[in-house]
Amino acid sequence: MSEETAPYGSGSAGAAPTDKAAPAIKRIRTQHLREMKQRGERFSMLTSYDQYTAQIFDEAGVEVLLVGDSASNNVLGNTTSLPITVDELLPLTRAVSGAVSRSLVVGDLPFGSYQASPEQGYLTAARFLKEAGAHAVKLEGGVEMAPQIERMTRGGIPVMAHIGFTPQAEHALGGYRVQGRGETSERILRDAHAIQEAGAFAVVMEMVPGDVAAKVTAELEIPTIGIGAGNQCDGQVLVWQDAFGLRTGRMPRFVKQYADLRSVLLDGARAYDAEVKSGAFPADEHTF
Ligand code: KIV
Repeated sequence: MSEETAPYGSGSAGAAPTDKAAPAIKRIRTQHLREMKQRGERFSMLTSYDQYTAQIFDEAGVEVLLVGDSASNNVLGNTTSLPITVDELLPLTRAVSGAVSRSLVVGDLPFGSYQASPEQGYLTAARFLKEAGAHAVKLEGGVEMAPQIERMTRGGIPVMAHIGFTPQAEHALGGYRVQGRGETSERILRDAHAIQEAGAFAVVMEMVPGDVAAKVTAELEIPTIGIGAGNQCDGQVLVWQDAFGLRTGRMPRFVKQYADLRSVLLDGARAYDAEVKSGAFPADEHTF
């Protein structure tokens, strides 16, 4: 791993290292993800939209936290990611970036906040870093987003791209569908190369056939992160409410559920409700 020096004015340099072991990474930076790819190590990414999940996922060792525009569906109760605004996503991003000590925090640029021009994109992305403490931003699109990615990268903003199925283009793509099957796999490869060329530090591939995602991963120098793109990507991402069972009902095939938080919360809420109604809570020990 590349070592990091303290930023100017950040206080004492601390004790001198006592052995030659590789230093533990204090803060995941974009270059660490690329170094992990080079070593053949995989990394994980989860969405997070609040301070407590951010602290827990950070402590668990998840390298990247995405404050996704999926907050639109998973926090604000919309049916798609389209309605969420920059002003709604910034406070959530601030909560996450303020809570982590190690994870890289990526703020997702909402629909309509960057597509109009590279300048619009740069100004929106800068707000995520300045006002919300994000370490990087994510945008959706391939070849057509190269000018935006170039502009942001040139202006000091690390960009994660997102290709394959891109939820902000749901209506243009004709619904939730796997992208890149058959002949259209060439388009995925063109998109992937264009965004790498433009300066993106990583790329999310959503709902892309496993063999196509594997080819992209082998051809690119930047890390790939899969969601419904098979197990050959350098990293994987899931929406946390899907992965830990807060959301229930019909799930996309690519979701694996690692916990059943809905049942835990439901049992807790029922027990609380029953004790309040029976008078068992609050007891003497909860009373001043
Ligand atoms: O907004 C989001 O949660 C995403 C992930 C699904 C990659 O874009």
